[in-house]
Amino acid sequence: MRYIASLHLPPLLPLPPYLLYLLYLLSSRLPISPSPHLPHPSPPMLPFLRPDLAQLTAYTPHPGGSDDSDANVTSPQTIDPLDTNESPFDLPIALKEKLADSYLSNLASNRYPDGEHLRLKQAIADYVNESAKLPVDALTTANISIGNGSDELIRSLLIATCVGGAGSILTANPTFSMYAILARTLGVPVVSVNRSEQTFEVDLAAAQMAIEQTHQPPIRIVFMVHPNSPTGNALTEAELTWLRGLPEDILVVVDEAYFEFSQRTTVEEVRQHPNWVVLHTFSKAFRLAAHRVGYAIAHPTLIGTLEKTRLPYNLPSFSQTAALLALRHRQELLETIPLLLKERSTLLHALREEPTLQVWPSKANFIYLRLSQKALDGTAPQAQERGLNQLFQTLKSKGTLIRQTGGGLRITIGTPEENQRTLTHLKQAIKTLHPL
Ligand SMILES: Cc1ncc(COP(=O)(O)O)c(C=O)c1O
Repeated sequence: MRYIASLHLPPLLPLPPYLLYLLYLLSSRLPISPSPHLPHPSPPMLPFLRPDLAQLTAYTPHPGGSDDSDANVTSPQTIDPLDTNESPFDLPIALKEKLADSYLSNLASNRYPDGEHLRLKQAIADYVNESAKLPVDALTTANISIGNGSDELIRSLLIATCVGGAGSILTANPTFSMYAILARTLGVPVVSVNRSEQTFEVDLAAAQMAIEQTHQPPIRIVFMVHPNSPTGNALTEAELTWLRGLPEDILVVVDEAYFEFSQRTTVEEVRQHPNWVVLHTFSKAFRLAAHRVGYAIAHPTLIGTLEKTRLPYNLPSFSQTAALLALRHRQELLETIPLLLKERSTLLHALREEPTLQVWPSKANFIYLRLSQKALDGTAPQAQERGLNQLFQTLKSKGTLIRQTGGGLRITIGTPEENQRTLTHLKQAIKTLHPL
Protein backbone atom coordinates (compact mmCIF):
# COMPACT_ATOMS: atom_id res chain seq x y z
CA MET A 1 0.00 0.00 0.00
CA ARG A 2 2.83 2.36 0.86
CA TYR A 3 4.33 1.98 -2.56
CA ILE A 4 1.11 2.78 -4.33
CA ALA A 5 0.58 5.77 -2.09
CA SER A 6 4.05 7.03 -2.89
CA LEU A 7 3.09 7.11 -6.56
CA HIS A 8 0.09 9.28 -5.65
CA LEU A 9 -2.46 6.73 -6.87
CA PRO A 10 -5.71 6.27 -4.98
CA PRO A 11 -4.95 3.45 -2.55
CA LEU A 12 -8.11 1.44 -3.35
CA LEU A 13 -7.77 1.50 -7.12
CA PRO A 14 -8.75 -1.99 -8.33
CA LEU A 15 -5.64 -2.98 -10.26
CA PRO A 16 -4.82 -6.46 -11.55
CA PRO A 17 -2.16 -8.20 -9.41
CA TYR A 18 0.52 -8.18 -12.15
CA LEU A 19 0.19 -4.40 -12.42
CA LEU A 20 0.35 -4.00 -8.68
CA TYR A 21 3.52 -6.05 -8.67
CA LEU A 22 4.95 -3.92 -11.45
CA LEU A 23 4.12 -0.77 -9.54
CA TYR A 24 5.69 -2.27 -6.46
CA LEU A 25 8.92 -3.03 -8.30
CA LEU A 26 8.95 0.39 -9.87
CA SER A 27 8.15 2.38 -6.75
CA SER A 28 10.49 0.41 -4.49
CA ARG A 29 13.29 1.70 -6.70
CA LEU A 30 12.15 5.30 -6.55
CA PRO A 31 13.80 7.48 -3.96
CA ILE A 32 11.09 8.31 -1.46
CA SER A 33 11.81 11.90 -0.63
CA PRO A 34 8.94 13.79 0.92
CA SER A 35 8.37 17.32 -0.23
CA PRO A 36 9.93 19.77 2.20
CA HIS A 37 6.52 21.39 2.53
CA LEU A 38 4.72 18.21 3.56
CA PRO A 39 4.97 16.55 6.95
CA HIS A 40 7.04 13.35 6.92
CA PRO A 41 4.77 10.44 5.93
CA SER A 42 3.95 8.13 8.81
CA PRO A 43 5.70 4.78 8.53
CA PRO A 44 3.69 2.13 6.69
CA MET A 45 1.68 -0.26 8.82
CA LEU A 46 2.74 -3.78 8.05
CA PRO A 47 0.14 -6.44 8.72
CA PHE A 48 2.34 -8.40 11.13
CA LEU A 49 2.93 -5.37 13.40
CA ARG A 50 0.87 -4.76 16.53
CA PRO A 51 -1.71 -2.08 15.61
CA ASP A 52 -1.35 -0.38 19.03
CA LEU A 53 2.26 0.50 18.17
CA ALA A 54 1.03 2.57 15.21
CA GLN A 55 -0.55 4.99 17.69
CA LEU A 56 2.57 5.21 19.84
CA THR A 57 4.65 8.37 19.84
CA ALA A 58 8.29 7.46 20.39
CA TYR A 59 10.52 9.34 22.81
CA THR A 60 12.13 12.06 20.71
CA PRO A 61 15.78 12.51 21.58
CA HIS A 62 16.82 16.16 21.24
CA PRO A 63 13.45 17.30 19.85
CA GLY A 64 14.72 20.83 19.61
CA GLY A 65 17.89 19.89 17.82
CA SER A 66 17.74 17.61 14.86
CA ASP A 67 14.83 18.97 12.84
CA ASP A 68 16.05 21.80 10.68
CA SER A 69 13.07 21.78 8.35
CA ASP A 70 11.70 24.93 10.00
CA ALA A 71 12.25 27.77 7.57
CA ASN A 72 12.63 30.28 10.41
CA VAL A 73 15.75 28.62 11.74
CA THR A 74 18.81 30.52 10.62
CA SER A 75 21.46 28.03 11.77
CA PRO A 76 22.74 29.83 14.86
CA GLN A 77 26.49 29.53 15.34
CA THR A 78 26.31 28.35 18.92
CA ILE A 79 24.03 25.51 19.89
CA ASP A 80 23.36 25.04 23.61
CA PRO A 81 21.91 21.56 24.16
CA LEU A 82 19.87 22.24 27.31
CA ASP A 83 17.09 19.77 26.60
CA THR A 84 18.19 16.45 28.10
CA ASN A 85 19.50 17.32 31.58
CA GLU A 86 23.03 16.14 30.91
CA SER A 87 25.97 17.72 32.68
CA PRO A 88 27.40 20.51 30.52
CA PHE A 89 30.90 19.33 31.47
CA ASP A 90 32.63 16.57 29.53
CA LEU A 91 34.99 14.20 31.37
CA PRO A 92 38.30 15.92 32.24
CA ILE A 93 40.85 15.18 29.55
CA ALA A 94 43.12 13.31 31.99
CA LEU A 95 40.31 10.85 32.68
CA LYS A 96 39.57 10.46 28.99
CA GLU A 97 43.22 9.61 28.48
CA LYS A 98 43.06 7.00 31.23
CA LEU A 99 40.00 5.54 29.59
CA ALA A 100 41.72 5.50 26.20
CA ASP A 101 44.79 3.85 27.76
CA SER A 102 42.70 1.14 29.31
CA TYR A 103 41.04 0.57 25.95
CA LEU A 104 44.45 0.15 24.33
CA SER A 105 46.03 -2.03 26.97
CA ASN A 106 43.25 -4.06 28.65
CA LEU A 107 40.18 -4.27 26.52
CA ALA A 108 39.87 -7.23 24.18
CA SER A 109 37.38 -6.07 21.58
CA ASN A 110 36.94 -9.62 20.27
CA ARG A 111 35.61 -10.77 23.66
CA TYR A 112 32.14 -10.28 25.08
CA PRO A 113 31.91 -7.94 28.04
CA ASP A 114 31.78 -9.20 31.63
CA GLY A 115 28.13 -10.27 31.71
CA GLU A 116 27.93 -10.31 35.50
CA HIS A 117 29.30 -6.78 36.09
CA LEU A 118 30.69 -7.93 39.44
CA ARG A 119 33.48 -5.37 39.81
CA LEU A 120 31.20 -2.53 38.84
CA LYS A 121 28.43 -3.79 41.13
CA GLN A 122 30.85 -3.79 44.07
CA ALA A 123 32.02 -0.26 43.31
CA ILE A 124 28.40 0.90 42.98
CA ALA A 125 27.35 -0.77 46.24
CA ASP A 126 30.23 1.00 48.02
CA TYR A 127 29.24 4.35 46.51
CA VAL A 128 25.54 3.89 47.36
CA ASN A 129 26.33 3.02 51.00
CA GLU A 130 28.65 6.00 51.24
CA SER A 131 26.35 8.52 49.56
CA ALA A 132 23.24 7.37 51.46
CA LYS A 133 25.27 7.41 54.70
CA LEU A 134 24.58 3.72 55.38
CA PRO A 135 26.96 1.26 57.10
CA VAL A 136 29.72 0.12 54.69
CA ASP A 137 28.17 -3.26 53.92
CA ALA A 138 24.50 -2.30 54.31
CA LEU A 139 23.92 -2.91 50.61
CA THR A 140 25.97 -5.46 48.66
CA THR A 141 26.33 -6.62 45.06
CA ALA A 142 23.18 -8.71 45.65
CA ASN A 143 21.23 -5.45 45.88
CA ILE A 144 22.46 -4.04 42.56
CA SER A 145 21.46 -4.67 38.94
CA ILE A 146 23.07 -2.65 36.14
CA GLY A 147 21.31 -1.60 32.97
CA ASN A 148 22.10 -0.01 29.63
CA GLY A 149 20.94 3.27 31.08
CA SER A 150 18.17 3.27 33.66
CA ASP A 151 15.83 3.12 30.67
CA GLU A 152 16.73 -0.55 30.29
CA LEU A 153 15.99 -1.17 33.96
CA ILE A 154 12.57 0.46 33.62
CA ARG A 155 11.83 -1.98 30.82
CA SER A 156 13.14 -4.94 32.84
CA LEU A 157 10.93 -3.92 35.76
CA LEU A 158 7.90 -3.85 33.46
CA ILE A 159 8.80 -7.27 32.06
CA ALA A 160 9.29 -8.66 35.56
CA THR A 161 5.92 -7.44 36.84
CA CYS A 162 3.37 -6.41 34.24
CA VAL A 163 3.67 -7.99 30.78
CA GLY A 164 1.24 -10.57 29.48
CA GLY A 165 -1.74 -8.96 31.21
CA ALA A 166 -0.21 -9.30 34.69
CA GLY A 167 -0.35 -5.63 35.65
CA SER A 168 -0.89 -1.96 34.86
CA ILE A 169 1.31 0.94 35.93
CA LEU A 170 0.48 4.18 37.70
CA THR A 171 2.21 7.47 36.88
CA ALA A 172 1.54 11.05 38.01
CA ASN A 173 1.70 13.58 35.16
CA PRO A 174 3.66 15.53 34.21
CA THR A 175 6.53 13.14 34.71
CA PHE A 176 9.32 11.31 32.83
CA SER A 177 7.67 10.07 29.62
CA MET A 178 9.62 6.83 29.25
CA TYR A 179 7.53 4.94 31.85
CA ALA A 180 4.42 5.24 29.71
CA ILE A 181 6.28 4.81 26.40
CA LEU A 182 8.04 1.62 27.49
CA ALA A 183 4.85 0.27 29.09
CA ARG A 184 2.93 0.77 25.85
CA THR A 185 5.60 -0.92 23.77
CA LEU A 186 5.09 -3.95 26.01
CA GLY A 187 1.30 -3.80 25.88
CA VAL A 188 1.11 -2.75 29.54
CA PRO A 189 -1.82 -0.41 30.39
CA VAL A 190 -0.93 2.98 31.84
CA VAL A 191 -3.09 4.73 34.45
CA SER A 192 -2.26 8.39 35.11
CA VAL A 193 -3.28 10.77 37.84
CA ASN A 194 -2.62 14.49 38.05
CA ARG A 195 -0.40 16.62 40.22
CA SER A 196 -1.22 19.88 41.93
CA GLU A 197 -0.94 22.79 39.49
CA GLN A 198 0.73 24.84 42.22
CA THR A 199 3.27 22.45 43.78
CA PHE A 200 3.23 19.41 41.48
CA GLU A 201 2.57 17.14 44.44
CA VAL A 202 0.79 13.95 43.40
CA ASP A 203 -2.99 13.91 43.85
CA LEU A 204 -2.79 11.12 46.42
CA ALA A 205 -6.56 10.71 46.75
CA ALA A 206 -6.79 10.14 42.99
CA ALA A 207 -3.79 7.77 43.11
CA GLN A 208 -5.38 5.74 45.92
CA MET A 209 -8.65 5.57 44.05
CA ALA A 210 -6.87 4.48 40.86
CA ILE A 211 -5.25 1.63 42.75
CA GLU A 212 -8.51 0.55 44.32
CA GLN A 213 -10.48 0.74 41.09
CA THR A 214 -8.04 -0.68 38.54
CA HIS A 215 -8.63 -4.42 38.25
CA GLN A 216 -8.00 -5.71 34.77
CA PRO A 217 -5.12 -5.88 35.23
CA PRO A 218 -4.43 -4.37 38.67
CA ILE A 219 -1.73 -1.78 39.24
CA ARG A 220 1.58 -3.54 39.86
CA ILE A 221 4.02 -0.58 39.66
CA VAL A 222 3.85 2.99 40.92
CA PHE A 223 6.52 5.14 39.23
CA MET A 224 7.79 8.22 41.09
CA VAL A 225 10.70 10.49 40.23
CA HIS A 226 12.55 12.08 43.15
CA PRO A 227 12.99 14.95 42.26
CA ASN A 228 10.42 14.80 39.50
CA SER A 229 11.25 15.54 35.88
CA PRO A 230 10.20 17.93 34.38
CA THR A 231 8.91 19.82 37.42
CA GLY A 232 11.92 19.59 39.79
CA ASN A 233 10.02 18.90 43.04
CA ALA A 234 11.19 16.24 45.48
CA LEU A 235 8.79 13.76 47.11
CA THR A 236 7.12 15.24 50.18
CA GLU A 237 6.72 13.49 53.52
CA ALA A 238 3.01 12.91 52.71
CA GLU A 239 3.90 11.29 49.39
CA LEU A 240 6.59 9.14 50.99
CA THR A 241 4.20 8.01 53.74
CA TRP A 242 1.65 7.04 51.10
CA LEU A 243 4.28 5.08 49.13
CA ARG A 244 5.45 3.28 52.27
CA GLY A 245 1.86 2.23 52.99
CA LEU A 246 1.27 0.61 49.59
CA PRO A 247 0.54 -3.14 49.73
CA GLU A 248 3.39 -5.55 49.10
CA ASP A 249 1.99 -6.68 45.75
CA ILE A 250 2.66 -3.23 44.29
CA LEU A 251 6.21 -2.33 43.34
CA VAL A 252 7.29 1.21 44.25
CA VAL A 253 9.87 2.55 41.78
CA VAL A 254 11.65 5.68 42.98
CA ASP A 255 13.69 7.05 40.11
CA GLU A 256 16.49 9.15 41.59
CA ALA A 257 18.23 10.07 38.32
CA TYR A 258 19.01 13.50 39.82
CA PHE A 259 20.09 12.29 43.28
CA GLU A 260 23.56 13.85 43.11
CA PHE A 261 21.93 17.27 42.66
CA SER A 262 19.14 16.86 45.21
CA GLN A 263 21.11 14.89 47.83
CA ARG A 264 17.80 13.25 48.79
CA THR A 265 17.51 9.51 48.56
CA THR A 266 15.10 6.78 49.59
CA VAL A 267 17.75 4.03 49.34
CA GLU A 268 17.30 3.27 53.05
CA GLU A 269 13.71 2.15 52.27
CA VAL A 270 15.01 -0.72 50.15
CA ARG A 271 16.27 -2.42 53.30
CA GLN A 272 12.82 -2.39 54.87
CA HIS A 273 10.56 -2.81 51.85
CA PRO A 274 11.10 -5.70 49.39
CA ASN A 275 8.60 -3.94 47.11
CA TRP A 276 10.78 -0.83 46.74
CA VAL A 277 13.40 -0.18 44.05
CA VAL A 278 15.56 2.90 43.59
CA LEU A 279 17.02 3.82 40.18
CA HIS A 280 20.22 5.83 39.72
CA THR A 281 22.18 6.74 36.60
CA PHE A 282 25.64 7.78 35.48
CA SER A 283 24.07 9.91 32.71
CA LYS A 284 23.61 13.13 34.69
CA ALA A 285 25.96 14.28 37.47
CA PHE A 286 28.61 11.66 36.59
CA ARG A 287 28.87 13.05 33.04
CA LEU A 288 28.66 9.66 31.32
CA ALA A 289 25.48 9.96 29.24
CA ALA A 290 27.35 8.67 26.19
CA HIS A 291 28.15 5.41 27.98
CA ARG A 292 24.60 4.39 28.99
CA VAL A 293 25.01 3.08 32.53
CA GLY A 294 22.19 3.02 35.09
CA TYR A 295 21.57 0.83 38.12
CA ALA A 296 18.76 -0.46 40.32
CA ILE A 297 19.03 -0.87 44.09
CA ALA A 298 16.56 -3.36 45.56
CA HIS A 299 15.91 -6.55 47.52
CA PRO A 300 18.05 -9.47 46.25
CA THR A 301 15.03 -11.42 44.97
CA LEU A 302 13.88 -8.53 42.80
CA ILE A 303 17.47 -7.98 41.65
CA GLY A 304 17.73 -11.69 40.73
CA THR A 305 14.64 -11.33 38.54
CA LEU A 306 15.99 -8.19 36.85
CA GLU A 307 19.17 -10.13 36.11
CA LYS A 308 17.07 -12.84 34.45
CA THR A 309 15.10 -10.41 32.30
CA ARG A 310 17.93 -8.28 30.98
CA LEU A 311 20.02 -9.12 27.91
CA PRO A 312 23.10 -11.21 28.80
CA TYR A 313 25.74 -8.71 27.64
CA ASN A 314 23.78 -5.52 28.11
CA LEU A 315 26.68 -3.30 29.07
CA PRO A 316 29.67 -2.82 26.72
CA SER A 317 33.12 -3.33 28.28
CA PHE A 318 34.09 0.26 27.55
CA SER A 319 31.05 1.56 29.43
CA GLN A 320 31.82 -0.68 32.41
CA THR A 321 35.38 0.67 32.46
CA ALA A 322 34.12 4.26 32.19
CA ALA A 323 31.70 3.82 35.10
CA LEU A 324 34.41 2.22 37.26
CA LEU A 325 36.76 5.06 36.45
CA ALA A 326 34.07 7.65 37.21
CA LEU A 327 33.42 6.08 40.61
CA ARG A 328 37.12 5.99 41.39
CA HIS A 329 37.33 9.70 40.56
CA ARG A 330 33.93 10.64 41.95
CA GLN A 331 35.19 13.46 44.11
CA GLU A 332 36.69 15.23 41.13
CA LEU A 333 33.70 14.56 38.86
CA LEU A 334 31.08 15.66 41.37
CA GLU A 335 33.00 18.83 42.16
CA THR A 336 31.04 20.67 39.47
CA ILE A 337 27.74 20.19 41.31
CA PRO A 338 28.03 23.23 43.64
CA LEU A 339 28.76 25.39 40.60
CA LEU A 340 25.67 24.05 38.80
CA LEU A 341 23.50 24.60 41.88
CA LYS A 342 24.76 28.16 42.15
CA GLU A 343 24.00 28.67 38.46
CA ARG A 344 20.52 27.22 38.99
CA SER A 345 19.88 29.73 41.73
CA THR A 346 21.15 32.67 39.62
CA LEU A 347 19.03 31.67 36.63
CA LEU A 348 16.00 31.06 38.82
CA HIS A 349 16.24 34.52 40.36
CA ALA A 350 16.66 36.18 36.98
CA LEU A 351 13.69 34.32 35.47
CA ARG A 352 11.50 35.20 38.43
CA GLU A 353 11.99 38.86 37.53
CA GLU A 354 10.02 38.22 34.34
CA PRO A 355 6.32 38.84 35.01
CA THR A 356 5.41 36.82 31.90
CA LEU A 357 6.77 33.65 33.49
CA GLN A 358 5.85 31.42 36.38
CA VAL A 359 8.98 29.62 37.53
CA TRP A 360 9.10 26.76 40.05
CA PRO A 361 11.84 25.95 42.55
CA SER A 362 13.98 22.95 41.60
CA LYS A 363 15.94 20.28 43.42
CA ALA A 364 17.53 19.05 40.20
CA ASN A 365 19.77 20.38 37.42
CA PHE A 366 16.90 21.93 35.47
CA ILE A 367 14.24 24.59 35.83
CA TYR A 368 10.57 24.31 34.93
CA LEU A 369 8.42 27.22 33.87
CA ARG A 370 5.11 28.20 32.31
CA LEU A 371 3.50 31.46 31.25
CA SER A 372 2.17 33.29 34.31
CA GLN A 373 -1.50 33.81 35.01
CA LYS A 374 -0.87 37.51 34.52
CA ALA A 375 0.37 36.88 30.96
CA LEU A 376 -2.63 34.65 30.25
CA ASP A 377 -5.41 36.83 31.65
CA GLY A 378 -8.20 37.18 29.10
CA THR A 379 -6.69 34.75 26.60
CA ALA A 380 -8.07 31.56 25.02
CA PRO A 381 -7.56 28.21 26.82
CA GLN A 382 -4.88 27.17 24.29
CA ALA A 383 -2.86 30.34 24.91
CA GLN A 384 -0.49 28.66 27.40
CA GLU A 385 0.58 25.93 25.00
CA ARG A 386 0.72 28.34 22.04
CA GLY A 387 2.81 30.86 23.95
CA LEU A 388 5.18 28.20 25.24
CA ASN A 389 5.60 26.88 21.73
CA GLN A 390 6.48 30.34 20.47
CA LEU A 391 9.11 30.70 23.20
CA PHE A 392 10.44 27.22 22.46
CA GLN A 393 10.70 27.91 18.72
CA THR A 394 12.33 31.31 19.18
CA LEU A 395 14.88 29.86 21.59
CA LYS A 396 15.55 27.05 19.13
CA SER A 397 16.11 29.54 16.30
CA LYS A 398 18.69 31.26 18.50
CA GLY A 399 20.46 28.00 19.33
CA THR A 400 19.10 27.38 22.83
CA LEU A 401 17.57 23.91 22.79
CA ILE A 402 15.18 23.21 25.64
CA ARG A 403 12.27 20.82 26.17
CA GLN A 404 8.60 21.65 25.85
CA THR A 405 6.89 19.00 27.93
CA GLY A 406 4.02 18.43 30.35
CA GLY A 407 2.49 21.82 29.61
CA GLY A 408 5.66 23.78 30.40
CA LEU A 409 9.27 24.39 29.41
CA ARG A 410 12.15 22.54 31.03
CA ILE A 411 15.57 24.13 30.82
CA THR A 412 18.72 22.25 31.79
CA ILE A 413 21.31 24.18 33.78
CA GLY A 414 24.38 24.59 31.60
CA THR A 415 27.71 26.34 31.91
CA PRO A 416 27.63 29.98 33.12
CA GLU A 417 27.97 31.13 29.48
CA GLU A 418 25.14 28.90 28.32
CA ASN A 419 22.89 30.08 31.13
CA GLN A 420 23.61 33.69 30.28
CA ARG A 421 22.64 33.00 26.68
CA THR A 422 19.48 31.21 27.85
CA LEU A 423 18.48 34.28 29.81
CA THR A 424 19.24 36.69 26.96
CA HIS A 425 17.40 34.53 24.41
CA LEU A 426 14.42 34.02 26.67
CA LYS A 427 14.09 37.74 27.33
CA GLN A 428 14.26 38.40 23.59
CA ALA A 429 11.71 35.64 22.95
CA ILE A 430 9.31 37.12 25.51
CA LYS A 431 9.56 40.53 23.81
CA THR A 432 8.61 39.00 20.45
CA LEU A 433 5.76 36.88 21.86
CA HIS A 434 2.80 37.30 19.46
CA PRO A 435 -0.59 38.09 20.95
CA LEU A 436 -1.83 34.95 22.66
C1 LIG B 1 13.78 10.68 35.59
C2 LIG B 1 14.68 10.03 34.61
N1 LIG B 1 14.92 8.71 34.70
C3 LIG B 1 15.72 8.08 33.84
C4 LIG B 1 16.34 8.77 32.82
C5 LIG B 1 17.18 8.01 31.83
O1 LIG B 1 18.41 7.80 32.33
P1 LIG B 1 19.46 6.88 31.55
O2 LIG B 1 20.29 7.78 30.73
O3 LIG B 1 20.22 6.22 32.66
O4 LIG B 1 18.68 5.89 30.74
C6 LIG B 1 16.13 10.14 32.68
C7 LIG B 1 16.77 10.86 31.57
O5 LIG B 1 16.49 11.97 31.26
C8 LIG B 1 15.28 10.78 33.60
O6 LIG B 1 15.02 12.09 33.50
